[in-house]
Amino acid sequence: MVFFNVKLFPLLIIPFNSVWSTSSNSISESLLQCPSTHLNHSNSSKEIILTRNSSAYSSVLQSSIQNLRFLNNSTPKPEVIVTPFHESYVQAAVICSKKHGIQIRFRSGGHDYEGLSYVSYDPFIIIDLFNLQTIHIDIENESAWVASAATLGQLCYSIVQNGKVHGFPAGSCPTVGVGGHISGGGFVTIFRKYGLAADNTSQQISMGEELFWAIRGGGGSSFAVSLAWKLRLVPVPPSVTVCKIEKTTEEGATKLFSKWQVIADKLHEDLFLHLVVEVANEASTTDGKTIKVSFDSLFLGPVEKLLLLTQDKFPDLSLDRSNCTEMSWIQSVMHLRRNHDANTSYAQASI
Ligand SMILES: Cc1cc2nc3c(=O)[nH]c(=O)nc-3n(C[C@H](O)[C@H](O)[C@H](O)COP(=O)(O)OP(=O)(O)OC[C@H]3O[C@@H](n4cnc5c(N)ncnc54)[C@H](O)[C@@H]3O)c2cc1C
Ligand SMILES: *[C@@H]1O[C@H](CO)[C@@H](O)[C@H](O)[C@H]1NC(C)=O
Ligand SMILES: *[C@@H]1O[C@H](CO)[C@@H](O)[C@H](O)[C@H]1NC(C)=O
Ligand SMILES: *[C@@H]1O[C@H](CO)[C@@H](O)[C@H](O)[C@H]1NC(C)=O
Ligand SMILES: *[C@@H]1O[C@H](CO)[C@@H](O)[C@H](O)[C@H]1NC(C)=O
Ligand SMILES: *[C@@H]1O[C@H](CO)[C@@H](O)[C@H](O)[C@H]1NC(C)=O
Ligand SMILES: *[C@@H]1O[C@H](CO)[C@@H](O)[C@H](O)[C@H]1NC(C)=O
Ligand SMILES: *[C@@H]1O[C@H](CO)[C@@H](O)[C@H](O)[C@H]1NC(C)=O
Ligand SMILES: *[C@@H]1O[C@H](CO)[C@@H](O)[C@H](O)[C@H]1NC(C)=O
Repeated sequence: MVFFNVKLFPLLIIPFNSVWSTSSNSISESLLQCPSTHLNHSNSSKEIILTRNSSAYSSVLQSSIQNLRFLNNSTPKPEVIVTPFHESYVQAAVICSKKHGIQIRFRSGGHDYEGLSYVSYDPFIIIDLFNLQTIHIDIENESAWVASAATLGQLCYSIVQNGKVHGFPAGSCPTVGVGGHISGGGFVTIFRKYGLAADNTSQQISMGEELFWAIRGGGGSSFAVSLAWKLRLVPVPPSVTVCKIEKTTEEGATKLFSKWQVIADKLHEDLFLHLVVEVANEASTTDGKTIKVSFDSLFLGPVEKLLLLTQDKFPDLSLDRSNCTEMSWIQSVMHLRRNHDANTSYAQASI
């Protein structure tokens, strides 16, 4: 068990072994006793440990489950849910779980597609970080400290509250959690220029390059739990250009798709041009279906410059000023987010 700490906002790394066997039938009762022996300053440990008997257990468990497939009675439930509001509770819960040979699932925003943050087929507890959402923006130094359970929406909002010329390359879905997002990579419309969210973090404590690398992109919980991240903000222009153009196969979408595959990675890094392929009508037979390709783009600059660029590199797209809107970066984040409804079927491609 190793702890690292920094003074202001700790980036707490707890490497842990996730394979422990169960030995007790009264795990939750033992866990209830456990934290207080490790917590020096707590007189409220029972409130933050929710057992199956707690009235808040179900609502907290379900609160951030995004994959509704897991909302049924056959999905295994945790023995307890720990809801820390201070890092010491995380430490205590990890120590106690290890002592009782029970698995841990860490949850920030709960958007894991496979429910990895709240499902286990061995006895387990959830350490739900939702109380840890502090965001501190330091515009002068173009940086931010963000607690893991802050959402991407809260992060982007906080950045623009501090000025219109900074952004961060985090995903476009506002309810995704920072913790799972950064530890899995994290990409959005400005990634061609600025890389992934995980690329724009900085090491605050001496954990070694290899561990720092491992906790950013390998998928959350593989190596550690991160409680907060130090981010480097990136510059964005006060006004960006968002365009949308749709073509069906009858209107030459196949040719454009083909061309896009060859040129997209060579376009200027200020231009993100991605496409979404979907069925445009509700025909009941395969033959009657119309395929539509939407070209959605974000350009970090004015519309005039974008039109010159596309006329030069992708004239067949016939991008017109009327297909484009200038707006602030934060407006573009909201504008370009896709609806991830479970019953929307489409394929998207980004280079
Ligand atoms: C609607 C929707 C839209 C999305 N849009 C985008 C997008 O635009 N761009 C993009 O790149 N991705 C996107 N994603 C994917 C998303 O980034 C990942 O699913 C991400 O892992 C979710 O993070 P979370 O904290 O919300 O999830 P959680 O379910 O809480 O966690 C995901 C994984 O990370 C682990 N984990 C959580 N917190 C921590 C922590 N503090 N320390 C260590 N491990 C932790 C969990 O145990 C789990 O294994 C989207 C997902 C959804 C459902
Ligand atoms: C839950 O409630 C049952 C019945 O009231 C009780 O026997 C059990 O000890 C309780 N468990 C916990 C962990 O409080
Ligand atoms: C525990 O708390 C007391 C009172 O707040 C403090 O004096 C003491 O230093 C703490 N001990 C540890 C190990 O943190
Ligand atoms: C103990 O709980 C009370 C009431 O909830 C709170 O005001 C106080 O700050 C707590 N003390 C410590 C040391 O956490
Ligand atoms: C219930 O949840 C399990 C996962 O825990 C899933 O495999 C199964 O498909 C779900 N059942 C239904 C009817 O959705
Ligand atoms: C910015 O960073 C410098 C050097 O690390 C530091 O001295 C200064 O206090 C920081 N500014 C703010 C506002 O924190
Ligand atoms: C963000 O990450 C990218 C890719 O590693 C890097 O080129 C860029 O300099 C980073 N941005 C900042 C502001 O550090
Ligand atoms: C793009 O502009 C062209 C020319 O004005 C127009 O015919 C087309 O409908 C526009 N496409 C969209 C998606 O608005
Ligand atoms: C999803 O499917 C339901 C039932 O068929 C339908 O009512 C709803 O409009 C669909 N949602 C979307 C976004 O297509």
